[in-house]
Amino acid sequence: MAEEQKQQLFTEQLKRIIAEKRERLRRPVRYHITTMGCQMNARDSEKLSGVLSEIGCAETDSEDADILLFNTCTVRENANEKLYGHLGIVKHFKKVNPDMLIGICGCMMQEKDEVLRIRQKYHFVNLVFGTHNIWKFPELLYACETEKQRVFDVEEQRDAFRDHMPVKRKLRFKSGVNIMYGCNNFCTYCIVPYVRGREQSREPEDILAEVRALVADGVKEIMLLGQNVNSYGKTLERPVGFADLLRRVCRVQGLQRVRFMTPHPKDLSDDLIAAIRENPKVCRHLHLPLQSGSTGILRRMNRRYTKEAYLSLVDKIKRELPDVGLTTDIIVGFPGETEEDFQDTLDVVRRCHFQSAFTFIYSKRSGTPAASFEEQVAPEVVADRMKRLIELVQSQAGTVADRDQGNVMPVLVEEEDSHAEGYLTGRLGNNLMVHFPGDRSLIGEIVDVELTESKGFYYMGRRKE
Ligand code: SAH
Ligand code: SF4
Ligand code: F3S
Repeated sequence: MAEEQKQQLFTEQLKRIIAEKRERLRRPVRYHITTMGCQMNARDSEKLSGVLSEIGCAETDSEDADILLFNTCTVRENANEKLYGHLGIVKHFKKVNPDMLIGICGCMMQEKDEVLRIRQKYHFVNLVFGTHNIWKFPELLYACETEKQRVFDVEEQRDAFRDHMPVKRKLRFKSGVNIMYGCNNFCTYCIVPYVRGREQSREPEDILAEVRALVADGVKEIMLLGQNVNSYGKTLERPVGFADLLRRVCRVQGLQRVRFMTPHPKDLSDDLIAAIRENPKVCRHLHLPLQSGSTGILRRMNRRYTKEAYLSLVDKIKRELPDVGLTTDIIVGFPGETEEDFQDTLDVVRRCHFQSAFTFIYSKRSGTPAASFEEQVAPEVVADRMKRLIELVQSQAGTVADRDQGNVMPVLVEEEDSHAEGYLTGRLGNNLMVHFPGDRSLIGEIVDVELTESKGFYYMGRRKE
């Protein structure tokens, strides 16, 4: 039987089980998913949410739910610690509600040691599965509900059905779309290729069909997701470049905004820059992870570009796309990083004028090549560098944002402002946030807003009718 139909059968069975439970409890069966990782992780949560709502469960904001899932991340050590922190708390919920089902999935569950730890020390966890068999969720949940024993199912790469799962989006008007899975780059610090497997692109027709369906369902903005979108389509039977995919996506009628994440600086093509330039639907935002400004460190990170190559790429981008907002990721304290290397990072930051930067302390991930590199940098040295880097990034971000003060720009309204009554919060194409007075009926609309005051990393504004 095709996997898709098999999972559908389990879904039907689960509908019956959940209906019975609802009857017995005389209230809805509540579920909650705690999403701990990146956009791809968040998209997976929407798929799990799709299954849970299809079988008749109701979503709740609290982890004190009947079905609780942790969709984990393992990119840095503190991501792992976060999970164990949560587990310490939810253990008490389960004491009050012994029927509670606790599941853990996501990247961390592709690590054998972590799965073992859960199996041996966290007996109240009922269900564990990985990233490669998320499509099997109905079957695994069914086993949990009927067999009344713990279910552990983690597979190596075998991704059968994941693109056909039902989806419940967090936001009605915005969605991620996976264009590829996994990663082949093996940056020496990074665990993603080990937990997400080898790179696999989806067929362009499938991606376009998904985008069209999303637009028909009210989506205005989509984000194309992949660990390195620049290598999209190279291994397909009929190879397609990312720039061409982007052009085809832009042609979907009714779609208003397109974003993508993440392009790797080593192979960002001129054709991609041209595709962005010729398509006003593509948001003027590029997230271009630098990681380090030192050519020596970049070589040992296996990033396959130099300081100079990164700088000239940024020059070219700014020349061709003058209104682009550039953001980046930087790792501080990679093994062997000297003060001189760090000065190179500061130098690149100074010259690139990033709109914002995510700064990370290097975290040793077991199984990656860098974990065995000697000369780990002392924590106090790392802390001092981090402080200096953040100061520089913040001082520049303000000047970058000031550039658009006074301009009128389109804003996608996302939600009511949580800090000020009567205000809305929305996002510019360049990804900066704007707060302005308005009615909640505008949520999900794209409206013109005058950016009256730049606050460095966001704006205050006024709607222009
Ligand atoms: N595929 C994306 C990044 C995914 S991980 C890319 O190549 O840009 C997101 C960010 O986490 C990375 O850009 C990197 O800055 C950071 N990161 C990854 N592994 C890390 C580690 N071991 N320690 C600290 N930061 C790390
Ligand atoms: Fe990790 Fe590098 Fe792949 Fe990004 S490109 S996911 S940093 S290995
Ligand atoms: Fe994303 Fe974290 Fe996995 S960054 S791919 S959820 S390890």
